[in-house]
Amino acid sequence: MRRILVIGIGTGNPEHVTVQAIKALNRLDVVFLLDKGQEKQELLSLRREICARYVEREGLRMVEVPDVVRDPQVASYTDRVDGWHQARAEILERLFASELGEAQCGGILVWGDPSLYDSTLRILERVRARGKVAFEHEVIPGITAIQALCASHKMPLNRVGGSVLVTTGRELAAAGQLEADEVVVMLDGACAFKHLRDDADIHWGAYLGSEHELVRAGRLAEVADEIERVRAEARAEHGWIMDTYLLRRRKPR
Ligand SMILES: C[S@@+](CC[C@H](N)C(=O)[O-])C[C@H]1O[C@@H](n2cnc3c(N)ncnc32)[C@H](O)[C@@H]1O
Repeated sequence: MRRILVIGIGTGNPEHVTVQAIKALNRLDVVFLLDKGQEKQELLSLRREICARYVEREGLRMVEVPDVVRDPQVASYTDRVDGWHQARAEILERLFASELGEAQCGGILVWGDPSLYDSTLRILERVRARGKVAFEHEVIPGITAIQALCASHKMPLNRVGGSVLVTTGRELAAAGQLEADEVVVMLDGACAFKHLRDDADIHWGAYLGSEHELVRAGRLAEVADEIERVRAEARAEHGWIMDTYLLRRRKPR
């Protein structure tokens, strides 16, 4: 049966790739790469670089296909994501059937870890449910942006015995306040931290793990404007940005 390896590759540093991931890369006949457009060529190049650096077996084929984007015309967020997942499922189904032999192994390289704000595993379940192409899959974990953030700031994620809320910029903006003492925010394209009135410290990082890494930390009220400015400049320079931050209430409840 066809086998798909979903391999977490870390967040921008080829040295994030684990020994388990390297072994998995060396089992692949084909690697599927989704091209996210001109602005995000660096993300694609890093995947190519990882294969070039770690794959020793001959004959690995790279199959690159243009990724689909969410349809901005669809008003509801859930419907928009659903349509996007469906389109990606159709692409993968077609690739598995046309590019992978019955007994071959294909790989999908997932940024960070496949369990965290990534839909590859959900999409594979869709492909399976459609019943047109049979496959088994395995998951190889990777270093997440949260771990990279903590390492760069040399900080533990949680307070002693404390819990941590992991959320998105969208959810934080909707809440308008911190809903836990420690909050990690991902997928924030609009600096949701700016609108908070909580007295908190922020530990922010962009391009974590890569040569372009940027980090800032301090009392939110004092550094929010600087982070917003640095973020905008970096985004303009590179054409894309990925950033993550931890907000920590100064007085835990
Ligand atoms: C679609 S999610 C993927 C998360 C990924 N699966 C992980 O394990 O970190 C993308 C978000 O992850 C965060 N992220 C990923 N890579 C990052 C990096 N190198 N530096 C900072 N944040 C990053 C950002 O919040 C970004 O918006």
